[in-house]
Amino acid sequence: MITFYYTATGNSLALAKEIGGELIAIPQLADFDQLAYKADAIGIVFPIYSPSAPTEVLQFLSRAALNADYFFAIGTFGNDAGQVMMSVAKFAETRGIHFDYLTQLQTVDNYLPVFEMAEEAATLLPKKTRERTKQIKEDILARRRSTIDFRSAAEIAAVNPAIDPAAAESFLVDERCNLCGICAKVCPAGNVTVKEKVYFGAHCENCEACLHWCPENALHLKEEKSSARWQNPSVKLREIIRANWQDQKK
Ligand SMILES: Cc1cc2nc3c(=O)[nH]c(=O)nc-3n(C[C@H](O)[C@H](O)[C@H](O)COP(=O)(O)O)c2cc1C
Repeated sequence: MITFYYTATGNSLALAKEIGGELIAIPQLADFDQLAYKADAIGIVFPIYSPSAPTEVLQFLSRAALNADYFFAIGTFGNDAGQVMMSVAKFAETRGIHFDYLTQLQTVDNYLPVFEMAEEAATLLPKKTRERTKQIKEDILARRRSTIDFRSAAEIAAVNPAIDPAAAESFLVDERCNLCGICAKVCPAGNVTVKEKVYFGAHCENCEACLHWCPENALHLKEEKSSARWQNPSVKLREIIRANWQDQKK
């Protein structure tokens, strides 16, 4: 089994680790010309960014040649998953992939403009994230099916329409920044460069990894609910760097 994943704050990686199989971080495949994989089961775990999914996830589904007897897709989300998983399923069908098991896992919402992270962290228990994670793992290991009718879902493009080339302008770096470079290493898009200061490029995917993992809490959005941050407790910083850092591929 292969479990592909995309993660910023670790929620999707925590689920992917629980499901198991060979774990492959999608950002590490960005420069590969050939993406051909064959396994008994192939799945994909990623955060929901309504009305879409992260651009790299959609591009992966567009480019990869996947061969398996059983396909699964799980979106992690915080408060409202909308129709995203149906739209992703519809998108995948156009690429010849039919998900046998399609679901979503409610967990902490890491979206800083709207949510306060200390309050969100306290929602893990009431959202029953642990129990649902176990159930999802059991379902996949038993190769259970959960089909939905996605025909009426909205079409999505291969690039998340929410991606804004001017996103860099929404960041603030305060005096606590010591140029440690963690923000560059956790960015799945290779969009952050640290030299004599922190530079943000034009292809930010809005995943917020740089904001949540800054060890000095020196990175902020001009419009954020509070300065509290979220890192999934089952995931270590070094796992996020291994998953996302673009320079380690060179
Ligand atoms: C740009 C952005 C958009 C998001 N949109 C939604 C959304 O529409 N609905 C929702 O429930 N959660 C939304 N979230 C929250 C994430 O989907 C959720 O916290 C997810 O588990 C994060 O996964 P990760 O820790 O693997 O990055 C959004 C987060 C970000 C950063």
